[in-house]
Amino acid sequence: MNHFIDISTTDAADLRHMIDHARAMKDARAGRTKGAPDDEQPLAGRMVALIFEKPSTRTRVSFDVGVRQMGGQSMVLSGADMQLGHGETIADTARVLSRYVDLIMIRTFDPSVLQEMSDAASVPVINGLTDASHPCQIMADVMTFEEHRGPIAGKKVVWTGDGNNVCSSFLHAAGQFGFDLTFTGPSQLDPNADDVAFARSKGANILIERDPMAAVAGADLVVADTWVSMHDAQSARERRHNMLRPYQVDARLMAGANDDALFMHCLPAHRGEEVTSEVMDGPQSVIFDEAENRLHAQKAVMRWCLGV
Ligand code: CP
Ligand code: NVA
Repeated sequence: MNHFIDISTTDAADLRHMIDHARAMKDARAGRTKGAPDDEQPLAGRMVALIFEKPSTRTRVSFDVGVRQMGGQSMVLSGADMQLGHGETIADTARVLSRYVDLIMIRTFDPSVLQEMSDAASVPVINGLTDASHPCQIMADVMTFEEHRGPIAGKKVVWTGDGNNVCSSFLHAAGQFGFDLTFTGPSQLDPNADDVAFARSKGANILIERDPMAAVAGADLVVADTWVSMHDAQSARERRHNMLRPYQVDARLMAGANDDALFMHCLPAHRGEEVTSEVMDGPQSVIFDEAENRLHAQKAVMRWCLGV
C-alpha cells in the first residue's frame, strides 16, 4: 500500500512520475470550465477523508476539489470534532476510518500521529502537513519550478528564515530531485539536522550561510515562509521576529539572485514581514501558480496512493 508520508520516504522514480503525471493532468484540463469533472473518473465510487487538526485554506480546498474532479467524494473532518485526543487512540481511529473510506489525508501536529495513523490504517494515508514536514506543498513547488524553468536538477534553491517543516520537505526534495539548497537564517532556527543529512546522503550540496546577500548569489529560486508557524508558541512571536527580520525577502535581496530567479512562498504570507508586497506581486513571484499546483500535484499523489 502506498502511503504518502514524506518525500524522503517515497521512491524517487515514483516522485518523478507523480510530477509528470500532475503536469499531464493539468494540461488535459486546460480550457475546461472550472469545476467540470475530468474525462477520466479514476476516483469514481471512492470516499476520501480529509482530517484537519490545524487551520487550512489551500490544502483543504485543493484536496476537496481534486477528489471531486476525479469523480470521488470527500468529507472534511475537524480534529476537534472527532474523538482524536479525547481518549480514543490514533490507531483505533485509523482502523475505524479504514472501514468507511478509501483514502485518508491528515494535517496534524506531532508527526508520530501521522505515523501511528499510517501504521494502523488499511487504506493509504497522506501527510497534509505536520510540525515536521509538508510534502504535498513541495511536490507542487517542484512542479511549479519545472513549468517555468525546466528541470530542477542541478539548480540552486535558497531557503530564507526559519528552518521549519516546509524547509524540511525542501531538503528531502533536494535529495530526491537532485538540486542544491542553501539555508540562510539565524543559527537558533537551523533546519533539522537529520533532514540536512538525508539530502547530503543523496548527493545534494546543502550549505548554511548566515549572510542572506551572500546566500542568494547564483540562486535560481528564493523561498520564504512565515516566521511563526502554526505549531510555534505565540509567546515566541516577538523573539522570532527580532531574529528573522534581517532575512526578509525584499527587492534588494532578489536583485542579488540570478536575473531569472523565481520567488516562492507556500502561503499564507505575512506581507511586510518575511516578504515585501513588492516581491510577492513582482514579476519573479510564482506564488499563485504554487497554490494552483497543489491541486494538480495532489491529484497525482492520490492516484499513486490508490494505484488508479
Ligand atoms: N500552503 C498551505 O498548506 O496552505 P494552507 O495552510 O492554507 O493549507
Ligand atoms: N510553516 C507553516 C506552513 C503553513 C502552510 C506552518 O506550519 O504554519
